Parts: sequence; C-alpha cells; structure tokens
Amino acid sequence: MIINNICCIGAGYVGGPTMAVIADKCEHIKVNIVDINSDRINSWNKTDLNQLPIFEPGLKDIILRTRNRNLFFSTNIEEHISRADLIFISVNTPIKQSGVGAGMAVNLQYIELCSRQIAKFAKGHTIIVEKSTLPVRTAQTIKTILNAEVKSESKNNDLKSFSILSNPEFLSEGSAINDLEKPDRVLIGGEDNDAIQTLVEIYKNWVPSNRIITTNLWSSELSKLIANAFLAQRVSSINSVASLCEATGANVEEVSLAVGADSRLGNKFLSPGPGFGGSCFKKDILNLVYLCNHFGLPEVGSYWENVLKLNNWHQEKIVKTIVNKLFGTLTDKKIVILGFAFKANTNDTRESPAIFIVDQLLKEGANLIIHDPKVNEEQIENDLSNFNRKQLNNKKYSYSQNDKGSWSYSSKLFDIFSNAHAVVILTDWNEYSILDWEEISNQVLNTAWIFDTRGLLNRINLENLNTNIWIIGNG
Ligand code: NAD
Ligand code: UGA
Repeated sequence: MIINNICCIGAGYVGGPTMAVIADKCEHIKVNIVDINSDRINSWNKTDLNQLPIFEPGLKDIILRTRNRNLFFSTNIEEHISRADLIFISVNTPIKQSGVGAGMAVNLQYIELCSRQIAKFAKGHTIIVEKSTLPVRTAQTIKTILNAEVKSESKNNDLKSFSILSNPEFLSEGSAINDLEKPDRVLIGGEDNDAIQTLVEIYKNWVPSNRIITTNLWSSELSKLIANAFLAQRVSSINSVASLCEATGANVEEVSLAVGADSRLGNKFLSPGPGFGGSCFKKDILNLVYLCNHFGLPEVGSYWENVLKLNNWHQEKIVKTIVNKLFGTLTDKKIVILGFAFKANTNDTRESPAIFIVDQLLKEGANLIIHDPKVNEEQIENDLSNFNRKQLNNKKYSYSQNDKGSWSYSSKLFDIFSNAHAVVILTDWNEYSILDWEEISNQVLNTAWIFDTRGLLNRINLENLNTNIWIIGNG
C-alpha cells in the first residue's frame, strides 16, 4: 500500500514532534496533525516559533523546514481523517478519576471518541496506528468499535476497511528530536503483514532496518508499559540507594559509577533526584498494576506498585529533610526554588515532583520565590491549584486564605537570593550548575541551607561556599 497522506489525531508532546520528524524525513508524504484543542493548533501555526506549544531542543528548526510544506496543523478532524491512508492515534490516555478502576485504569474515552470518528469519516482502506500508550488488548476494543460503526453505516455502500497496528512511542521529553531521529528501536505490532510492512517502509526512510522490531499486537502494547516500568524502577532504585548513602556515609554518585560500570547493568538512569515525574511513569505503572490485578496476578501488581510507593515516600522525605534542617519550622522563611519542570529541557510540568514539594513547603508556611527557565507563572499557578483541588475533591484552596505560606515567580536568577533561609534545586537545568554559588552563599543568611536534590553541586568546588549544603545521596 502506498502512503501519500497521513493524519495524526492529537497535537501534543508526542503527536507534534513525531509527525514533524516523519514529515522532515518523508518529503513525499503529506502529514496533517489534527486536534480538538484549537488554542493548541493556533500555537503550532504561530509565525513566532518561540510560541510553539512545546519546548523541545531542535523542534523549531524542523517546524521551520516542514510546516506548510508537507506538515499541516488543523482542527478539521473529519476532513483529514477522510483523506488519510494511515492514521496515528496520539491522544492523551490519562488515569480514570472516577468509576470502575478509578485511580488506576486508563480512561479510554479519547481513544473511543477517535475510533468512532475514524469509523465515520474514513474512506477506503485505512491503517490505524496506536501511538498513544495503551493497556494491553486496546487494539481489540478499537477493532470492535470500528467494525460495529462500519456495519451500522454499511447501508451507505461506502466500502471501508481497517488494519490496526500498535507502534508505541519511546521518546523522552527534552531529547525528543534526537530520540525520534536516532531511535534505539521502532516497535510495530500487528496481525496484518501488509500493514506492518507499509509502516516499516515509512520508518526505513531514516531508521536502519535492524532497529525496526515487529511483534504481535499484544507484545507491542505490553512492551511499552514494561519499558516505562523498568525505567521508573531504576529511578526508584537509585533514589532508595541515595537514602542509604545518606545514612551510611557512602556517596551515591560513586555508587552509581561503580554499579553502572557493569555492562550488564549500564550507566543510564542511575541519577538520584527528587523522584520521577512526567506524564507517563506514574500512569503507566498504575495501569500495569491494574492489568496484573485484572488478570489475577496481585503479587506481580504489588511488586510494581512498590516502585510508585518508593517514589512518593522519597518526595515526602525530601520535604522532611528541608523542614528538619530549618529547625522544624518554615513559617515566614524565604526559600528560593530552582526549577519547576519535571526534568531539564522541557516546559512540561505534568506530575513534576516540584508540585508536591512546593505545595508542602507552602503548607509549612514558607514564602517561596520560584524560578524556571521555561515554565511560566500561569502554569505554576494552575498546577498548584489543580493539585489542591484534587486533594480536596474539587473544593477551591488558597494558601493565603488558610494563613499559610505564599509564593512569587521570578523569571531572573539575580536579586532573588539575598537573605534567603534556603535554596532548593529541584530541576536539573544546566543554568543552575553554572551559577556563581560562592556569591549566592554570601547573599543568603548565615544559617541558610542549599538543598540540591539533583546532585548538580557535585560538579563544583564547594570548599569556598559559605553556607550549609545538603546534596542528595551524599553522606
Ligand atoms: P498531550 O496531552 O500532550 O496531547 C494529546 C492531545 O490529544 C491533546 O492536545 C488533546 O487535545 C488531543 N485530543 C484528545 N482527544 C482528541 C480527539 N478525540 N480528537 C482530536 N484531538 C484529541 O499528550 P502526550 O504527552 O502527547 O501523550 C499522548 C500519548 O502518548 C499518551 O498515551 C502518552 O502516554 C503517550 N506518550 C507520551 C510521551 C511523552 O513524552 N509525553 C512519550 C511516549 C508516549
Ligand atoms: C519517559 C521514558 O524515558 C520514555 O522512553 C517514554 O517514551 C516516556 O517516558 C513516556 O512514555 O512518556 P520522560 O518522562 O520524558 O520519558 O523523561 P525521563 O527522562 O524518562 O525522566 C522521567 C523522570 O525520571 C524525570 O522526572 C527525571 O528527572 C527522572 N529521572 C530520570 C531521574 O530522576 N533520574 C534518572 O537517572 C533519570
């Protein structure tokens, strides 16, 4: 089957960069990205590339080359579905907030809606590709919806048929373009060999054949959840080791180096931090646990659930460390927070550990100044109020109303440290490691602490710093 026209439903962190790279590498294919969110589509179409909805190194250059050449952003979902030979489903798959499986199972409402739209508007034979991360056997659900809709429409004599593939995405935010251009592997699962080969041919435009793995549908869907679970497990493992290092006088950087030098283990994903964040690790593990329980394997579920429990405990431990070192009270203390994004090189704050940690410091009565190079004040405000709304079952919460701490935003890194009781590094932005820490240590109060949850200060000479320093995992 020759593919001339691709439609991608969902212009988010995955749909946007992924389709931009396909358009860049396959000039002969027209790629249309559609979304129900017109603000998002408008931002993708802005002339000023600094206003793209997603910050991702290298993305602007690709958008500049491809936009309105063979890459288009639109809200006209029906039209682009009807023209597509191949449709990527790249919509969000959050955890259910209520009903059966609340708090664990994936909410498939967006996937179902897409499937119904595809069934209605597609023409001829269309390959449907699951790009979103989905519970195992979702392809069966999509198939059932498509078949049912097609049957009920068959009186129109409009012949249509579908092949369904699973092609999960493994990109990491902050390095998405590099991950897409040079993937470790591309995974394609399916039952229809012609459809699989058609998608393989698209990727072969830039990915070596030996990096394209084909499997059955269920292996492909499950592999995505398992890959994220393994990665998250490594972060929880090294964070647990960091606590042990603090207790024993060992140094987690040295332990990471020694352990990671074993080629069977590898040296990646061994950096301790404030706990893992991001939109996927937590939701994918919750979903994995739900699946295990559903298939009668509670022991397997509880094994993976502990990865999440450790992550929660670890974040609480960081808050306790800060409170204890500042004499058990934060009331009216000035604390500078460096970083709000869940990791460096992204403006994404979904499930960022900063949300929980900042919330707890505010509830302890601290006055915070928050800096992040890519996250703006409005985003922080939204994240903190949504977090509290969730905790309070939708009731509005205001820190000031409850006579607790307060926060303000700073887009600059100067003039914010004077007389601070503490500085807390939460995101591993490079600009924080190249700050003049000697100067900062002179500006903060004599009894102040610098809390480095990312180990950035391991790279600098601390001898001349005139303050107390706590570095994660550094006993
Ligand atoms: P996102 O929230 O950034 O984007 C999803 C987009 O889909 C939104 O803009 C939303 O408006 C749109 N959408 C929802 N329903 C729609 C519909 N019926 N029609 C048209 N548009 C619709 O989400 P994301 O981060 O891009 O993640 C998408 C999927 O990819 C998720 O399943 C996620 O688990 C997976 N994933 C994400 C990443 C990542 O780094 N963010 C990496 C790999 C996989
Ligand atoms: C992760 C996976 O790495 C991707 O392969 C996957 O496609 C994606 O989830 C997804 O499915 O959404 P991402 O969440 O963008 O990518 O970022 P990671 O680099 O994996 O970091 C996740 C979290 O772990 C961050 O909070 C990061 O700071 C933390 N982390 C990571 C550490 O604390 N230490 C490490 O050594 C590595």
